[in-house]
Amino acid sequence: NWKMGDFVELEIARIRELVGDRALVLGAVSGGVDSTVGAALMRAAIGDRFKAILIDNGCMRLNECEQVKDTLGKHLGIDLTVVEAGDLFLGRLAGVSDPEKKRKIIGSTFIDLFEQEAIRIEKEAENTPNSGKVEWFLQGTLYPDVIESLSFRGPSATIKTHHNVGGLPERMMNGQGLRLIEPLRLLFKDEVRAIGRQLGLHESLVNRHPFPGPGIAIRILGDVTKERVEIARQADHIFISMIKEAGLYDQISQAFAGLDTNRSVGVFGDQRVWGYIIILRAVRTKDFMSAEIFNFDNAFLQNVSRTICNQVEGVARVVYDLTSKPPGTIELE
Ligand code: XMP
Repeated sequence: NWKMGDFVELEIARIRELVGDRALVLGAVSGGVDSTVGAALMRAAIGDRFKAILIDNGCMRLNECEQVKDTLGKHLGIDLTVVEAGDLFLGRLAGVSDPEKKRKIIGSTFIDLFEQEAIRIEKEAENTPNSGKVEWFLQGTLYPDVIESLSFRGPSATIKTHHNVGGLPERMMNGQGLRLIEPLRLLFKDEVRAIGRQLGLHESLVNRHPFPGPGIAIRILGDVTKERVEIARQADHIFISMIKEAGLYDQISQAFAGLDTNRSVGVFGDQRVWGYIIILRAVRTKDFMSAEIFNFDNAFLQNVSRTICNQVEGVARVVYDLTSKPPGTIELE
C-alpha cells in the first residue's frame, strides 16, 4: 500500500538528515528480521558508514553465524564484523544458573564488546574517506516497544530483563555520547516483514520465528556449558527442520528445543543411560504478551522425540511443554 511504499524512501531521507555526512553508525545484528531490515535501511541511507556487528555469544542456533554472514555480508553488501566471543560469554556464565544473573552477564558482555568495537572502528576509519566518529547506535525498536516504554509501569512490572541484542544501556549513551537511531520505531512486526520483502529479503528470513538476544542460554535451565549448548542446539535444529518439513512453520509463532537441568534414566539397546532431557516448546500468539501452545499431532511429536533421542548423543528423554502464557513465559527463563 502507499504508506509502506513511501516508508523506505522517507526513512532513508530521515536517516541521512539525522546522521549527516560524516558520522559513523554502529549496529548489532542477529540474523532476525528486525535487525536485518534496520541494517538494510542504514546501508541504503549511508552505505559503508554503517558498521554492523554480529557478536557470536556461543549461544546462537546451528549455522546461524554463517547464515548471517551470507545474508548481510554477501547478499546485502553490508560492512559486517563478526566478533567470535563464545569462550568469553561461556567463561563468564560458568557456574551461573540464576536466570536474571545469566541475562545481566550476557547483556553487559554485549556492551563491553560494542564499546571495544566502537573504538576499533573509529581507529580503522581514520585516514580513509569514511573517517568519522561513531555517533549513533542502531536499535531495532518496534512500535509496541515504544508504547510499552511510554506507559507507566511500577517496579514490579519487570518480569524479566529483556536484552535485545540492539539494546544500549545508559553507560554507553552517557559515556560515549552515542545517540539512538530507531528506523523501525513506527512499525508493527508485520509491517517490518512487509518492508523486508520490499527490500528483497528472502521469505525464510522475513518469516523467521523470533530469537532472543541471550540465545540458547535462556533455553537451558541451569548451568550453560559448551556441551549443554551443543545438545540443545542440535535438538533445536532437528525440531525446527521437522516442523518445516511438515509444513507447520508458518502456523507457529515461535518454537524451539530447550534443555532441562536434570538428567533422567533411559535404556538404549541393553544399556542403561543417564541422559539429558529435552523440552520442546511451540506457541501461537499475536503479540507475544500471551500465547497458547501449538497442538501437534501425537504421531508428529513421537517422531520428533525418536529422532532427537537417536541423533543427539546424550539425550534420553524428550518432553513437550503444555504451558500457555500466562502462567508460563515463552522462553524457559
Ligand atoms: P517471554 O519469554 O518473555 O518472551 O514470554 C516473549 C518474547 O520475547 C522474546 N524474548 C527476548 N528477546 N531478548 C530478546 O531480544 C530477551 O532477553 C528476550 N527474552 C524474551 C521471546 O523470544 C519471545 O519472542
